[in-house]
Amino acid sequence: MNPHRTAFIQGLPKVELHLHIEGSLEPDLMFELARRNNIKIPFSSPEEVKAAYQFEGLQSFLDIYYQGANVLINEQDFFDLTWAYLLRCQKDNVIHTEIFFDPQTHTARGIAFETVINGIDRAMQKGREELGISSQIIMCFLRHLDQESAFNTLKQALPFKAKIIGVGLDSSEQGHPPEKFKEVFEAAIGHGFLTVAHAGEEGPAANIHNALTLLGVSRVDHGVRCVEDAELVKQLIEDRTPLTVCPLSNTKLKVFEQMSDHNIVDLLRQGLCVTINSDDPAYFGGYMTDNFMAVADALPVSLEELQAFTLNAIEASFIHEQEKQKLVDKVTHFSHEFFV
Ligand code: HPA
Ligand code: ZN
Repeated sequence: MNPHRTAFIQGLPKVELHLHIEGSLEPDLMFELARRNNIKIPFSSPEEVKAAYQFEGLQSFLDIYYQGANVLINEQDFFDLTWAYLLRCQKDNVIHTEIFFDPQTHTARGIAFETVINGIDRAMQKGREELGISSQIIMCFLRHLDQESAFNTLKQALPFKAKIIGVGLDSSEQGHPPEKFKEVFEAAIGHGFLTVAHAGEEGPAANIHNALTLLGVSRVDHGVRCVEDAELVKQLIEDRTPLTVCPLSNTKLKVFEQMSDHNIVDLLRQGLCVTINSDDPAYFGGYMTDNFMAVADALPVSLEELQAFTLNAIEASFIHEQEKQKLVDKVTHFSHEFFV
């Protein structure tokens, strides 16, 4: 790629809205934590772990991803995990991030909710103070589990409400549609949480529609299969409903065969509020800059359009208008010299 484009993508201030903290667990840290906590893992080296990351689809990834999370035991582990991610953010000029975590992945193993949230939150505070990176936490319900388990998780979260901006829905989309969680999302909204949901990744466009109408979501995670319903696309454009798209995830999990087939630039040009995110960067081969580079390498996209992904993410973020304006100023100040 031409050096001017590379420098723009590297330096561009970025906002991440779709990042599973458990998906930022790099093989090296996985090994360190396995040793520290005396946990057996079915790999003999970090290189062997990396070699195992070949996925046929979402489920084959999830199986290995939940297994990886077994090494996370103590509050310090969750701190170290989150801090390592925030250091990568700094490298990629990520100035704001909204982080997912999956409480049930840990509470099901006997880890206390507070151990998880306190470790993540402490790293986020340090990130604000020492790196100048602002952040929020969103807790996701695992959709392959039942709604009762989600209700339990919601209850466990209530004492930590001040630390959690919203609730989301992740894991296996096929067979577990949004309507399965209608009541627990209603309850979450009643407690003041914002809502988001993974929809239209491997599942049909109807899941996007139902996430919007039944779960009251402010953003749709992935959402790339919206194109299968022209009426829905029209609505998403009209409402400026944000889609948190994850390009490298989509090619790794074969939602698109290759990056040149991805619809992200098409969606942007149609006027949708699409954003670029890394999803599970330790598993999918790249953080924010890598995702921007992969899109810019494979698809015809201008610097102005690349900037638009960040401006859309600021618009879609869960921060106050004044804060949004500060981030917009940072982006336009950075881009200025590239556009003249
Ligand atoms: N989809 C569903 N569940 C997930 C994902 C995803 O991309 N990443 C982590 N959990
Ligand atoms: Zn995701």
